[in-house]
Amino acid sequence: MRVATVSDLHTDFAENREAVVKLAVAIHEGQADVVIVAGDVSHKDERIDRALRAFAEVAETVAYIPGNHDLWYDVPLAASRSDLDTWHRYRVELKTVCEGAGAHYLPAAPLIVGATAIVGSCGWYDYSLMAPAFRAQIDDRALAQKTLDGLMWSDARFIAFRDEQGHLMPDPAVARQMEAEFAAQLAEVESNAEVGEVVAVTHHQPFYDVVARTGKLPWEYFCAFMGSTGLGEAIRGCGKVRTAVYGHTHVVGRYELHGLTAYGTPLGYPRERRGLPEEQLTVTRIGWIEVS
Ligand SMILES: [Fe+2]
Repeated sequence: MRVATVSDLHTDFAENREAVVKLAVAIHEGQADVVIVAGDVSHKDERIDRALRAFAEVAETVAYIPGNHDLWYDVPLAASRSDLDTWHRYRVELKTVCEGAGAHYLPAAPLIVGATAIVGSCGWYDYSLMAPAFRAQIDDRALAQKTLDGLMWSDARFIAFRDEQGHLMPDPAVARQMEAEFAAQLAEVESNAEVGEVVAVTHHQPFYDVVARTGKLPWEYFCAFMGSTGLGEAIRGCGKVRTAVYGHTHVVGRYELHGLTAYGTPLGYPRERRGLPEEQLTVTRIGWIEVS
């Protein structure tokens, strides 16, 4: 079975909507059975719907996990709106959008095809992927506010995860919840005798070593919001995982570590791939996995 993976399609850009068509054509030519969309399509439901349908045209099965952009509420300040809870968007609204497009919603349940299980979570960040030298310079309050020298990580405006009492949850608590649900799904497929191999998919990055570093601010500050090491621990707790796919970063990468292959093939923003030869687009922005 052939699995194709894409992420960070950001189809609010017209250029990316054209690129998605090219990715879909290449996936068709590559004869994928399953397409995994690892988050960050758009905060607009109709754009998520369209992208998932584009891939459903070229493969039997499409599996999706939301990214942080998909989770955004398009309001001035989500935290000030007690009627909005990002968990509701994650568990209900995006599941409805995904299933309406005929795709499998990974946060709700693993996808099992043949002897392979695909397990996914958006994941979240707890600042653990920041390099220690920079982490030591910046206090927790500054990280919680997600701003540095006038630059803001936009989740600060559009995300509002709430606990059962309706209180806003700190990022590490959100990360722990995501990791726990992911680990539970991984344990489920680990104990399923019919599953021989697992593909783990997270939007946020799961390992310290897959994070691109510049050694300079503000880049190193924003590494705080790349993911959590707990996602990687969940993956390493499942011996059947051979491949870990991530999104979120817009830096293409491939790593062999912890006995598995971890990679990301983000489309990213148009300005980030200026100068990329046209024929390299589909070569570098689609990942392929051969599974049994
Ligand atoms: Fe993202």
